[in-house]
Amino acid sequence: MPAPFNLAISLDASLQAAATAAGLETPFAAEVRGADPRHGDFQANGVLGYAKARKLNPRAVAQQLVGALPAEVTAAYEVAIAGPGFINFTLKPAGLLGWLQAHARAEQLAAGAAQSRTGEAWILDYSSPNTAKQMHVGHLRSAVIGEAVARLLAYSGAKVTRDNHIGDWGTQFGKLIWAYKRHVDQAALARDPIEEFERLYKLGNNAADADVAVMDEARAELVQLQAGKPASLEVWRQINEASLRAFQQVYDQLGIRFDLTLGESFYNDKVARVYEELAKLGLAQESQRALVVFHPEHPRFKEQPFIIRKSDGAANYASTDLATILYRCEVLKATGMLYVVDKRQSDHFEQLFLTARKWFAATNRPEPRMEHVDFGTVLGENNKPLKTRSGENIKLKDLLLEASDRAYALVCTKNPDLPEAEKRVIAEVVGTGSVQYADLAQNRSSDYVFAWDRMISLEGNTAAYLLYAVARLRSIFRKLGAVPGDTAGEAAASGLETATELALARKLMKFPEAILLAAGQMRPHFLCLYLYELAGEFSAFYNADKVAVDDPSVRARRLLLCARTLLILETGLHLLGLRTLERM
Ligand code: ARG
Repeated sequence: MPAPFNLAISLDASLQAAATAAGLETPFAAEVRGADPRHGDFQANGVLGYAKARKLNPRAVAQQLVGALPAEVTAAYEVAIAGPGFINFTLKPAGLLGWLQAHARAEQLAAGAAQSRTGEAWILDYSSPNTAKQMHVGHLRSAVIGEAVARLLAYSGAKVTRDNHIGDWGTQFGKLIWAYKRHVDQAALARDPIEEFERLYKLGNNAADADVAVMDEARAELVQLQAGKPASLEVWRQINEASLRAFQQVYDQLGIRFDLTLGESFYNDKVARVYEELAKLGLAQESQRALVVFHPEHPRFKEQPFIIRKSDGAANYASTDLATILYRCEVLKATGMLYVVDKRQSDHFEQLFLTARKWFAATNRPEPRMEHVDFGTVLGENNKPLKTRSGENIKLKDLLLEASDRAYALVCTKNPDLPEAEKRVIAEVVGTGSVQYADLAQNRSSDYVFAWDRMISLEGNTAAYLLYAVARLRSIFRKLGAVPGDTAGEAAASGLETATELALARKLMKFPEAILLAAGQMRPHFLCLYLYELAGEFSAFYNADKVAVDDPSVRARRLLLCARTLLILETGLHLLGLRTLERM
């Protein structure tokens, strides 16, 4: 029988079977978790609670349970009862080797991982920038974290639909169209449309601030746009098209491809139904001509209502978000949706979810799972939100360019003799990867300080360190003329022996736990930390145990360890959205 992917889960199942066989009351919660390495690989704590509730001696219950364990468990593990009644499991070297041999290919790992979330259908709402502006550093986190979460969920077996919910409808278009009609520079527009739209927006905004007459004209433009006047719609369409083209360049670089780009404008004709239903249900009420939802049970939102239609009758962020939830459930058949958005919007999402839950409950619609996958701010070295020296937002495309320039310098010191074109490719992969990884390696809910020197470095928990480990593994195989994952060669492997071989094998076998944790909490930093520790175990192994030894069975088992390290490092980095390299 091949070794199961997640050994903790499979141990749990074995313990439940043992509980039945031993005549314990079931269901029995075995509570298997990763153990403190001094005690073993896994520990089951469930006996304690079970015995306490029934006034039994926990050690005696543990004894009973261990006595009833199926033979394949006692063949693979050393089992010991410790303390008041913990059961410790330590994989025997043969059990470790068995796991490694059963997971020789990416498909085998993927098949194992895909068991945890089958049947779930998630809409992932991420990136979602507003149009007519460049993406700046504030847009980095949603894109990078969102893509990693999307990949982790899909890898865990969920159906994932990536939806770029762009802000392509709103009051900014009044001022923008006003300025466009009077001040557009056609040559600049042809050269760099977003740049020109940004200039026009600033111009319109300043003019409207300075002069109420302009403000009125801009409002009139907005009314005409919302009424669907063809000339206004045409300008609006141009703006969005140019914006999406510019966004796409950043997405290509980050390896992001959306399934849907249904912006706010898509819900234009779907908000009326929201007003009607919520008003009819008594959930929404008129207040100072606006339509609002109070949440009397909530300490803050009982007085701070959720405005779902503005006093001038226009839709807002809340109206479109409510219409979006309904559409995603009714038409896209989502069972859940995730919003990868700055934590400064947490009030909005709390009110949105509260409102949607009441609305769905009152209309007997099945309630989707809704979660705000929040994140903190990217700070400069002064601990304030990162800006250029002159106080402007840093454009994301400039940031990524600088990253690859800096990585180019690193590549030139490390490997000056590589062909120029290859150095450029490596610099692009390392540079972009460093920016992505520095963002992902932090707990997403915290702010972090953006520091070039720390993020583009071969030392520490960085992309360059991990990409270099991958490249080094590739070069080991190149030098020995071996192919990673060559099953025939691996079949000749002898049993794992040295402490460093065993430690590396143990770390490899923990990959499923890292995936479960990162995907379960939608926190990619758990996977980053795992990969970093894995690379560390690999270094320790590689320094202590020579791979290119004469004894073919020792060489085979060490090559097997190298091959699995390579496979898991690459799989993990790809799940984070990074590209990997053959050479660096
Ligand atoms: N466009 C918004 C912004 O730039 C983010 C939208 C997030 N998604 C959503 N469904 N509200 O802040």
